[in-house]
Amino acid sequence: MKTCIIIGAGGRGKDAYAPYIHEKKLFKIVGVVEPDKQKREQFQARYDLPDDMCFSDYKVMFSKGRLADAVLICTQDRMHIEPTLLAKKCGYHILLEKPIAPTLREVKLLEKAFEGYDKVFMTGFVLRYTPFIEKIKEIIRDGEIGEIVNLQLNENEGFWHHAHSYVRGPWSQSKTSSPLIVAKSSHDMDLLLYLVGSSCTYLSSYGDNTYFRPENAPGDVPDRCTDGCPFADTCIYNAVEQYTNGKAQYFVHKFECGTEKEDIINALKTNPYGRCVYRCDNDVCDHQVVCLEFENGVTAMFTVSAFSLENNRTLKLMGTKGEVGGCMETGEILLKKFSDMSETKFQIEHDGTKHCGGDGGLMEQFARAVDTYETAENTVDKWMFEAHKIVFAAEKARVSKQRMKL
Ligand SMILES: NC(=O)c1ccc[n+]([C@@H]2O[C@H](COP(=O)([O-])OP(=O)(O)OC[C@H]3O[C@@H](n4cnc5c(N)ncnc54)[C@H](O)[C@@H]3O)[C@@H](O)[C@H]2O)c1
Repeated sequence: MKTCIIIGAGGRGKDAYAPYIHEKKLFKIVGVVEPDKQKREQFQARYDLPDDMCFSDYKVMFSKGRLADAVLICTQDRMHIEPTLLAKKCGYHILLEKPIAPTLREVKLLEKAFEGYDKVFMTGFVLRYTPFIEKIKEIIRDGEIGEIVNLQLNENEGFWHHAHSYVRGPWSQSKTSSPLIVAKSSHDMDLLLYLVGSSCTYLSSYGDNTYFRPENAPGDVPDRCTDGCPFADTCIYNAVEQYTNGKAQYFVHKFECGTEKEDIINALKTNPYGRCVYRCDNDVCDHQVVCLEFENGVTAMFTVSAFSLENNRTLKLMGTKGEVGGCMETGEILLKKFSDMSETKFQIEHDGTKHCGGDGGLMEQFARAVDTYETAENTVDKWMFEAHKIVFAAEKARVSKQRMKL
């Protein structure tokens, strides 16, 4: 079995990828790099790793040469470049989490550095590996909708999810993380490229942080929801309600506190998630649209928005002979054909891993790519650079209100 090392034993490295790899025997996990002692020790115990394969610093790990076949780099957004270049130097197969880099300059730097690299280099674009997208791709391949003319993709964030991650949480500021479209939507640009099968030529984009600002507070509010806010009963963003009773309960495991209501409220008194959404230091957009034209003439409209009840993606492709669309999270696909006005419904199931089966699908694909890299025409996924260039161009277009040529 091929071997791998996980760099960054957090949400992705420890919780999403390692258990799947281990269970499906895709790789033998032989090492970990994680500065947080508690997480590192948990990981070490779970995968029975020797002390000398558990590191707190990736520089130390890389200084020892190549210790496995592959690395999964699952550190936070601004800690991607250095370990990736060190991994290349050692000759690892690399899975680097998205966004691959927080700036366009660094995306280009990676693209140049990996020209002709003969090992696998791919990113965490999980969506294209979902059974839902595979089915849509099959419908397109079978000619059911004719030639694609245009498409619409909506990334509906869910108001509670946006508040957690992009107002109170780690992706709330462009400076410390990246603009919303870079942090969240390189996935979607990859999906558009994958479905359209052509490069993007021009785009324009609009959006702002319209709502999560001090002037939209319902009145005189304290800094924290735990400080006796007079609007606690009516505010849909009340952290106590959201994290103990609402949809944001999903994120409570990140607090590293007990599961009782009291424990959660205590954590909210000091952690960033207890802050009033109108009094945070956020600056990333809460809505953005991107209008794209592709080399083959196809056009697309992409919307990312905080203002939805559910956190899901909805998609519609319009072709010369029919249309197909659906919702990735519910797995419903509806195909409508012009010739006989027929409507066919499909219900797509997945393996239960996150991102509608995309996490598992990505790991399967990474393992396959590593197994077959010697006979592959390209081992470096060129589309990942293009998807990232699109999001940076979209941000530039949004800020400058100008149309961009790619
Ligand atoms: N592909 C996807 O769909 C998807 C989904 C969510 C997040 N992400 C991306 O995955 C990356 C990780 O996100 P996450 O949610 O797992 O974050 P996280 O904060 O839960 O995990 C990151 C881990 O890296 C560790 N770390 C910090 N410095 C380190 C260092 N120098 N060396 C090694 N480890 C270090 C942290 O202690 C933490 O445990 C981010 O870039 C994020 O944007 C991708």
